[in-house]
Amino acid sequence: MSETKFPKELLDKLVTAENIVFFTGAGISAESGVPTFRGKDGIWNKLKPEELANFNAFLRNTDMVWEWYQYRRKIVREAQPNPGHLAIAEFQNYFPNVTVVTQNVDNLHKRAGSKKIYELHGNIERNFCIDCKKWYNDVPIDENKKGAIKCDCGGLIRPDVVWFGEYLPQDEFKQSEWEAGRSDICFVVGTSAVVYPAAYIPFTALQAGSYLVEVNIEPTDFSSHAHYSYFGEAGKVLPEILSEVKKIKSSKKQ
Ligand code: OAD
Repeated sequence: MSETKFPKELLDKLVTAENIVFFTGAGISAESGVPTFRGKDGIWNKLKPEELANFNAFLRNTDMVWEWYQYRRKIVREAQPNPGHLAIAEFQNYFPNVTVVTQNVDNLHKRAGSKKIYELHGNIERNFCIDCKKWYNDVPIDENKKGAIKCDCGGLIRPDVVWFGEYLPQDEFKQSEWEAGRSDICFVVGTSAVVYPAAYIPFTALQAGSYLVEVNIEPTDFSSHAHYSYFGEAGKVLPEILSEVKKIKSSKKQ
């Protein structure tokens, strides 16, 4: 038998698992060049969430908030899915039900090919008018054009992301809870898991008896709850786990 660095318990779970959830955060996209929020170079170390990720801030300072989102849109449009996103998408070839529950707004799971994705904090590519609710998606980024754009009706257009103090999209959250509740394995990848209610998802999985695997570059508040924590970059660790899956699935066929 070949040597493996993963615990037998995880390997056994991978043999029988049918329902897998990946709960992801900013760390999964870090290797694609999208900044995280906390930690050494985190966005919230330099900028204040209450001035940017908040509806009242948007009303007070519409142009500034809009331009910040245009800047982030530019980063995510230029970014490419990394081996971590791609490995998650490839899990779909080996398990009947793979769900991605993400706190990210960057679309990179979709671009990597994941099919079932619940975006708990919205999606930066979508925008809507706060008055008539008309959608304005994939808006062009013209760096010479400053300031927010307005709807045909005259209303302000905001990004379809969840700001502090706002509700999560209820359907996406309910579906995520349902998938977490029936998961056999829940991977918690690249998240500090400190922002609620999204961070309830791995606990829902845990309470339902799922096997919890954390993938992060460093220990987090969640580490003591995980059955197994793997400390390394998601873009390296997830392909390694995937290659174990491939070995397991091919030996089962023989
Ligand atoms: P954070 O910035 O809080 O956490 C990112 C996590 O990723 C940290 O635990 C890092 O150690 C880890 N990390 C960094 N690089 C990594 C890598 N290459 N591989 C694996 N792990 C890595 O981001 P989130 O947990 O996603 O909400 O933050 C949650 C929410 O807080 C965000 O959705 C956003 C933010 O405020 C809203 O905007 C509502």
